[in-house]
Amino acid sequence: MSEKLNVVPFVSVDHMMKLVLATGVERFLIELAAYIEEDFRRWECFDKTPRVASHSAEGVIELMPTSDGETYGFKYVNGHPKNTRSGRQTVTAFGVLADVGNGYPMLLTEMTILTALRTAAMSAVAAKYLAPKKPRTMAMIGNGAQSEFQAIAFKAILGVDKLRLYDIDPSATARCQKNLAGMGFEITACTSSQEAVEGAEIVTTVTADKQCATILTDNMVGPGIHINAVGGDCPGKTELHRDILLRSDIFVEYPPQTRIEGEIQQLDPDHPVIELWQVIAGTAPGRSGERQITLFDSVGFAIEDFSALRYVRDRLQQTGLYEELDLLADPDEPRDLFGMILRAAKAVPMAQPLISAIG
Ligand SMILES: NC(=O)c1ccc[n+]([C@@H]2O[C@H](COP(=O)([O-])OP(=O)(O)OC[C@H]3O[C@@H](n4cnc5c(N)ncnc54)[C@H](O)[C@@H]3O)[C@@H](O)[C@H]2O)c1
Repeated sequence: MSEKLNVVPFVSVDHMMKLVLATGVERFLIELAAYIEEDFRRWECFDKTPRVASHSAEGVIELMPTSDGETYGFKYVNGHPKNTRSGRQTVTAFGVLADVGNGYPMLLTEMTILTALRTAAMSAVAAKYLAPKKPRTMAMIGNGAQSEFQAIAFKAILGVDKLRLYDIDPSATARCQKNLAGMGFEITACTSSQEAVEGAEIVTTVTADKQCATILTDNMVGPGIHINAVGGDCPGKTELHRDILLRSDIFVEYPPQTRIEGEIQQLDPDHPVIELWQVIAGTAPGRSGERQITLFDSVGFAIEDFSALRYVRDRLQQTGLYEELDLLADPDEPRDLFGMILRAAKAVPMAQPLISAIG
């Protein structure tokens, strides 16, 4: 990587796609999942805070920072469920990694694609500890931008090869089915959530709607199921009926954030939950019985993005799939920041008045 102090490696959307294709989507998800597990095992090393959210009637813009003492990372991300109507993504993101020692950014990258990958990898890691053994069938309710990534992660990491899809918009299901064709799935397009969950060992809910929706009702959830609830991730934005939560063992990323944003915002503030990092570190049990209903109340936490940024940075060294961004001012003498502008003015014709004004 460049030694030039003004340069920060930048991963554009184009380079991210090339990185994913050069790596292979399944391998990317498996390796990213390993980085997430590694960081969850050292959970206590990290600065943690609920993300800083700016809510509006249409959506939310969030900043998600964390640090392990050596490296700092943050993600900017939005969530605007009506965006797809104007041709925009519901979720877009970019992120930065920086050196804690000198504060200099070390990486700037697109994170819209990376967020879909990290969310899917995180879901699959949680399911590895919580789902019934050797699951084959997953219902996926909500077949939007995140959905194919979820499906591929569950196949690569758990061996899920039967999908039961449902979306209120049949064209979303058709697109998801078409995109996943030839990837080793047996896919059933369903006409209701009820139909989709039939025979599924794992149910993923990944819908976008800025309200307390009821994507799953209590009668749809039989014993032994693992629920991967991804779409409820803001105050007033949930997917599951409260009665399901009361029958489930609930696993979360970071309780202070999930109590504000997750499905458990519907419960008392002291309702017991298990922190997923403890399950991964081996200090709390994951699935402990065949009839247990496990729920991963996913909202997305900064450490997962940190893992994703760390993974991409390591991959760049091997692939060179980035460009050099002239992001940081680097005068010849560190305190001569204004002098750097004066020297640049000589090369810019429009700046002649400035040069004559200062003689
Ligand atoms: N937990 C996390 O870490 C995390 C990360 C990324 C995104 N998300 C959330 O995941 C959700 C999905 O994101 P996306 O980018 O795929 O959005 P998207 O808008 O591309 O897709 C959402 C899909 O849900 C469908 N839908 C809406 N209401 C439904 C209902 N009642 N039943 C069935 N389908 C329904 C829509 O028709 C759409 O196809 C969003 O709510 C987003 O905020 C969570």
